[in-house]
Amino acid sequence: MALRGLLRVGEVAIRVMDMKLSRRHYGDRMGLHEVMEDADGRVYYKAWDEHDHHSIVLRQADSPGLDYFAFKVYDDKTLTDLEPKIRAFGLEVKHIAAGVYPKSGRRLEFMLPSGHRMQLYAHKEQVGNTLGYLNPGVVPDEHVIRGFNINRLDHVLLGGTNIDDNVRLFTEVFEFDLSEKLIDHESKASLAVFLSGSTKPHDVAFVLQPEPGRFHHVSFLLESAHDVIKAADRIGKYRIPVDVGPNRHGVTRGATIYFFDPSGNRNEVFAEGYVHYPDTQTLVWDTTELGAATFHQDFTPRESFLTVLT
Ligand SMILES: [Fe+2]
Repeated sequence: MALRGLLRVGEVAIRVMDMKLSRRHYGDRMGLHEVMEDADGRVYYKAWDEHDHHSIVLRQADSPGLDYFAFKVYDDKTLTDLEPKIRAFGLEVKHIAAGVYPKSGRRLEFMLPSGHRMQLYAHKEQVGNTLGYLNPGVVPDEHVIRGFNINRLDHVLLGGTNIDDNVRLFTEVFEFDLSEKLIDHESKASLAVFLSGSTKPHDVAFVLQPEPGRFHHVSFLLESAHDVIKAADRIGKYRIPVDVGPNRHGVTRGATIYFFDPSGNRNEVFAEGYVHYPDTQTLVWDTTELGAATFHQDFTPRESFLTVLT
């Protein structure tokens, strides 16, 4: 099937504790483009190669973490068709009218078995990437490429309970594939699950945690592993706290750096990785290779990476 249904993670809403410091981090240093501040003080960002109005929303709060994440779906009929299937799965679905979320059409909202608030929407105002749609060329306007040269929001990794139920929802209702999973060597229980609804190695992933609703990281796509190294140069220049320096994941084969925003939310820049097709069987890692699954170049698991969530 061509890519229809759920298209991509189109919006991630993050709680931050200091908007001024957060603007410096996400805007000035990472180079996301601030597109709007709403009447409640939420700040909206887009990456340069995204066509929709925004993909990241920051809200000032007393604690960091994830407010919600939202997938864009192909069209309004997709929303209509999905609603009874989500209900049949056993989740309550809330209707959010068009316009309640800025620049956005109507939304469906539900709580995942892992305790995360997820939304679906079909429409968001499109503003383009400055290249236009007729003879667009390849290089955007000079002011557009800056900071880490982030192409787009790529994926989220969330921590919570009942992650096998999330897998059932995403595979049975949303027609995603379980592209990879990490299991406990002894019990075979799922510790982390990676789900793709596209040709990306993952669009969303969940890691087993004792508490529901935790936020592990939001990831931004760069063009190449070289850009990941260049982002690391800027991370050093600005003394941005690093969780794990440049490395390559075993899972997804993506080049990566993990670092923290000023509120302690983990960010990732990510590049490359393999092309996933739905006829590939699930790749399985077990805890005997936990180091290589997470960070393949030094095959060393990181305590902070496994235990620090917001
Ligand atoms: Fe990631």
